[in-house]
Amino acid sequence: MTEFDIITDRSGTYSYKWDVKAGELPMWVADMDFETAPAVKRAIVERARHGIFGYSATPCEFFEAVSGYFGRRHGFKIPTEWMVYSNGIVAAIGSAVRRLTHPDENVLIQAPVYNIFYNSIVNNGRRVLSSDLVYDGNGYSVDFADLEAKLALPQTSLMILCNPHNPVGRLWSREELMKIGALCKKHGVTVLSDEIHCDIVRRGREYVPFFSLEEYRDISVCCISASKTFNLAGLQSAVAVIPNPHLRHRIWRGINTEELGEPNAFAMTAGIAAFTECDGWVDALVDYLFENRALAQDYIKEKIPSLRPIEGEATYLLWIDVSAVSEDSVAFTERLRELTGLYLSEGREYGEAGRSFVRMNLATQRERVLDGLERLRRGVEIILSEGL
Ligand SMILES: Cc1ncc(COP(=O)(O)O)c(C=O)c1O
Repeated sequence: MTEFDIITDRSGTYSYKWDVKAGELPMWVADMDFETAPAVKRAIVERARHGIFGYSATPCEFFEAVSGYFGRRHGFKIPTEWMVYSNGIVAAIGSAVRRLTHPDENVLIQAPVYNIFYNSIVNNGRRVLSSDLVYDGNGYSVDFADLEAKLALPQTSLMILCNPHNPVGRLWSREELMKIGALCKKHGVTVLSDEIHCDIVRRGREYVPFFSLEEYRDISVCCISASKTFNLAGLQSAVAVIPNPHLRHRIWRGINTEELGEPNAFAMTAGIAAFTECDGWVDALVDYLFENRALAQDYIKEKIPSLRPIEGEATYLLWIDVSAVSEDSVAFTERLRELTGLYLSEGREYGEAGRSFVRMNLATQRERVLDGLERLRRGVEIILSEGL
């Protein structure tokens, strides 16, 4: 039994994910049902005990903590002057879209992809242009010819990369990132790389930060944070890493003009504790999450053979092909919820390319993972025999 096996109760905390009926099991929104690392909790409690919650600054200590953590964990000590603070990654992405592109220009994404990218593009009056990832029945890859054709369009000015990729769980290799960088550079396209899931990576696999690619640093804006790894999304805190000083100034101007650059009273304390005191906890978390993934993949292969789990290298999100049961993931997830109380994300949210997939969040206690899998098996059995 590990600390991650302890069943938590999130009711009464205004949790978005757990705003469900009694008996339902939510495995949708991408946050974790675990407590944050003990050192982070201690730091927040101590800060709360102080009782004064006025305006906060962003001290050097915070950026040094991020830099040290990346050095230890990912072999790249980020120069602190490359960093710009932001109230979350989605906030930074929206701001970057407004600053780096003009209305009606194309922002390139790789569907199926994190649903909020669409909002950040469309709500700012820009156009979504997808170079859909290619699905071969087992996994996903990039169609580089299609990508180049779309990057070459004069109206395409920005590419939002998801590294690692939510929801398909791909960890882009150095070669793939180099090719993407080369194509973007060739066609004058800036790369906005969302790297929020970068710590949740299968052991033995290498996460390559896009900003670490020297050749493409000048066109790179990367977003990182403690939100996924330490379950701190509710603190709305992130860092944009921008090596090019001119590009950095534009992003900094955007974030600060839009008043997105001041942390809440807990963000600095929590961030510093997370990035300096918790390396062992992160190792244990990642192991636990990949054991959950192995368990879920094996269970589905063995007991729900009509579904196909996609082998993931990163994130705690399992992307599942349900096309043999239904081509319509909206109807499928609704019916599954009615029948079993299991609440999954429907794949069409991530673009049409995801219409016959569902996403299952595995960042929960193993007992709940097993409960979710059992509900999924039962639901699929009923849907196969009775129809949707
Ligand atoms: C790829 C990706 N980017 C960003 C976010 C959200 O980031 P933030 O809460 O910092 O806005 C998520 C959350 O699920 C995500 O999966």
